[in-house]
Amino acid sequence: MKLTFSVKPLGSLPKSYVRVAFVEEKGVKRLIREQGIETIEIGVGAELSQRTFITLCRSVVATAKQFKAQKIAIEFDAHPWLFKGLKDVSPLRLSELAAENFEMANYEFTKFKTKPKEGWGAVEEILLCGKFDKATEAAARRGQIIGDEVNKTRALANTPGGDMTPRGLANAAKDAVKGLPVAVTILTRKQMEKLGMGALLGVGKGSTHLPTFTIMEYKGGKGAPIVLAGKGITFDSGGLNLKPSSGIYEMHMDMSGAASVIHAVALAARLKVKKNVIGLIPAAENMPGNEAYRPGDILRSMSGKTIEVLNTDAEGRLVLADALTYAKRLKPSVVIDIATLTGAALSALGFYATALMSRDEKLSQTLETLGEESGDYVWPLPLWDEYEASLKGTFADLTNIGNGPGGRTGGAIEGGMFLWQFAQELSCPWAHLDIAPRMTSAPGDELAKGAAGAPVRLLIRYIEQHV
Ligand code: BES
Ligand code: ZN
Ligand code: ZN
Repeated sequence: MKLTFSVKPLGSLPKSYVRVAFVEEKGVKRLIREQGIETIEIGVGAELSQRTFITLCRSVVATAKQFKAQKIAIEFDAHPWLFKGLKDVSPLRLSELAAENFEMANYEFTKFKTKPKEGWGAVEEILLCGKFDKATEAAARRGQIIGDEVNKTRALANTPGGDMTPRGLANAAKDAVKGLPVAVTILTRKQMEKLGMGALLGVGKGSTHLPTFTIMEYKGGKGAPIVLAGKGITFDSGGLNLKPSSGIYEMHMDMSGAASVIHAVALAARLKVKKNVIGLIPAAENMPGNEAYRPGDILRSMSGKTIEVLNTDAEGRLVLADALTYAKRLKPSVVIDIATLTGAALSALGFYATALMSRDEKLSQTLETLGEESGDYVWPLPLWDEYEASLKGTFADLTNIGNGPGGRTGGAIEGGMFLWQFAQELSCPWAHLDIAPRMTSAPGDELAKGAAGAPVRLLIRYIEQHV
């Protein structure tokens, strides 16, 4: 999308631009024509907050698409009442946010569709009228880059399981950073075996497509690296504990964590952030093949800890266990894992927040604050010692799901607690983001159906402020 700027008021623009006007009538979305000039009116019920500013920017684009307006012009300054509640958000930040969310709202997964004669109907140009200077324009350009990388995350996650093997995901990591100063290493099977990644290799056994482990290194500065680890299950059938029909459909997006890590690293490089960032992508396909790992199997993880598989559908924590152990050798300053880990996180929080788990109070606070600022909202769940007991194995060190008296209770926390068994070997803060709730866009998001691209906006803000 082209983003252009003008100091002229809307009235003096050529007729080819469809004007956008905000009116105080909640819910209104209409196109009016007067003397050959088209205006889209969008109703805004109340004063804006940062949250509603984000959705307003998106609904501008969504509405323009609906009315097939390809060139639109907006003059935010003409609606000062809108911004009364946004006094604490800087003009730079508003400019960035607007651009970022315009881009996100303009995206749709069309790769496998035949192009209609009239095109996809995406918005081609947005002209922003008002007091823009060099700095606010630059902020908007940044926002466009962030939005673009979020959309690439969504495109990768939306790719069907049949078109995205673990090797395919590793190659996608390479493609994402083409021309950028990021080194990508894909471990061979022999190397993974030698490292003892028995948990990752175990999960992948049922598939004809071998697991991969990818390391993306961006060196933008000095100091110990930020390590991001993303769950890369290219399709989660559940394995021998096969998922029911209702639960299996969207499981090609079970690599959304990996997609977000790949594009967060790419984004850090594109924005030339002066930090060191390393992305880790353990990838496997969870299938019920002849060679598949079975309930009751015991896997030896890279850490040396053995894991009794009580349910082959709790596979994400297994591949991440080896990634967390691998992270230790990178001497990180912080480790964050991102995973569509549990349906239970979705049960707990609904569609609108990523579940955050950490034993580090400061890191937890930072992620909550940046979550709110970025638009990738997160909400904490506890990782208290009490939750540990249910993971104790009978025939191995650990079980991969809780086996306590509670049955299916606290599933998101049990997932986080399992990961903690490996993360506690690190000598740095660690956090777990269960993005299952944010895997797909939800009603009210004003985004196209499919992958939501969480939490790339949070990750880049985290990377930028990290000291
Ligand atoms: N990938 C799923 C979790 C999931 C569910 C993500 C829905 C996004 C939407 C994960 O691997 C899984 O199957 N988890 C099980 C864990 C259970 C066996 C303890 C679950 O959530 O049921
Ligand atoms: Zn699963
Ligand atoms: Zn899964």
